[in-house]
Amino acid sequence: MELILKNQPENLAEGQILFCPVLEDKQAIESLVKGLDYEDEKLVLSRIVQENFLGKKGQSLLITDNVQTVILLGTGAKKKLSVEDWRQLAGQMVAQLRKMKAKKISLYLNHWLKGNKDTALLGQAIAEGFDLASYNFDKYKKVDTGKIKLNIEELIVYLDDKQKNDFGKGFELGSYLAWGTIKARDLVNEPAGKMTPSFLAQEALEIARLNKNVSVKILEKEQVVKLKMDAFLSVDQGSNEALKFIHLKYTPSVKAKDSIALVGKGITFDSGGLNLKSGDSMEQMKMDMAGAATVIGLFSVIDQVKPKVEVHGIVAACENMPSGSASKPGDVVYNMQGKSIEISNTDAEGRVTLADSLAYAQKQKVNQVVDLATLTGAVMVALGPDYTGLFANDTKLANELLASAKKAGEKMWQLPLPKEYKKLNQSRIADVRNIPSTRYGGAITAALFLQEFIVDGTKWAHLDIAGPAYAEKQMNIYTPPGGVGFGVRTLLEWLKDM
Ligand code: BES
Ligand code: ZN
Ligand code: MG
Repeated sequence: MELILKNQPENLAEGQILFCPVLEDKQAIESLVKGLDYEDEKLVLSRIVQENFLGKKGQSLLITDNVQTVILLGTGAKKKLSVEDWRQLAGQMVAQLRKMKAKKISLYLNHWLKGNKDTALLGQAIAEGFDLASYNFDKYKKVDTGKIKLNIEELIVYLDDKQKNDFGKGFELGSYLAWGTIKARDLVNEPAGKMTPSFLAQEALEIARLNKNVSVKILEKEQVVKLKMDAFLSVDQGSNEALKFIHLKYTPSVKAKDSIALVGKGITFDSGGLNLKSGDSMEQMKMDMAGAATVIGLFSVIDQVKPKVEVHGIVAACENMPSGSASKPGDVVYNMQGKSIEISNTDAEGRVTLADSLAYAQKQKVNQVVDLATLTGAVMVALGPDYTGLFANDTKLANELLASAKKAGEKMWQLPLPKEYKKLNQSRIADVRNIPSTRYGGAITAALFLQEFIVDGTKWAHLDIAGPAYAEKQMNIYTPPGGVGFGVRTLLEWLKDM
């Protein structure tokens, strides 16, 4: 979609469909209509009354005389809209466009921008909301000729000359953030029959090929054996798919201000292993690589967003399957740091693979490590389906991530890492056990398990994204059911502000 910035509509047909956000305020609505130069102003005003269009948030009104189509979008009574309001407003535009055939559209913002200092943020929010709401995962559906296909080629935005530059820049950034998120959604939505560790590795190789500041190393099983990642190997050993250990690296063109590792859980299918899941709880387990998808989605646009820090993207990718060669409850394995883990339940496999990927990450001379994992059902019991549970051993890091999540419109809530609970992960025969001795506080005990592998001096945050990585129902107007791409925008906001 091409963005064109103009001052005023030359004629209302030039953008085919003109979207006008408008306040819940009778006078504001009337003066908007007068300012529009609509051929038949009376028609518009009478329709507004007939349809009882008050400008309430979410309300919309379509007016057309076959030459000009205007869609009024109510924004509610708030005089200043938040970034999230704008994202949702763009989502509302897409919802309207799914009902009609249009190639060109326009958006009338002049009256919103008087005295608005955040034009760049506005542009960013509109691009994000529009692109994210336009997302479909329909590649496996037979083309339905009766259905309207969303295909907008041109978006004209009307604003003042002074604001064009900022708006354009913000819009470009928002587009990249949305594309990275969409990449992650695609990876999560792809069924596990195709979305194998090898497929993820191919995606990483392709990203490195296309982006000059990104490089990648794929470690095969022999190299993983050499590195003594026996914890990771034990999760993989029941599967017929080849494991892949993926290490992406972004090097900024300027001198790096810091070095960060992003670690994603990459279980391409979680059957539970010998502790087999029930049919119901297994059904969505293609999404157990959502952490990896976020890391890879982020890397697909990192060269365009250009953070000034070095970033490592690390994923231990494998399946968790039951078979004659699968690891058995009661097994003991060592991670690459030499810590022993009692595998009491093969379904708590994410933390076992992370024991090695976190260890590997910390060997890359990084100062901060953030992992993303669909780690526990317990985090959804605690926080519901939309919130990510944040755990961190560093207050500044935690606060930065919370602030970035807020900017991105992604929900995140901090949970504690209490020392007193560490004993819940004790094993009688090994250094640590992969399931706790109580069923309470499962998201916390899982995070404390991960902390066992964090060495002194590493600033670390763990994001348990089991809830919002995958939306069972439409999450909001720009997030359809399925893979959400959670974390791509939060983490890019965080990295770009460093
Ligand atoms: N992949 C699951 C966690 C999960 C559950 C993600 C539901 C998304 C939705 C993880 O590997 C797992 O199975 N965790 C177990 C841990 C338990 C055995 C201690 C769980 O949460 O039940
Ligand atoms: Zn599991
Ligand atoms: Mg979910």
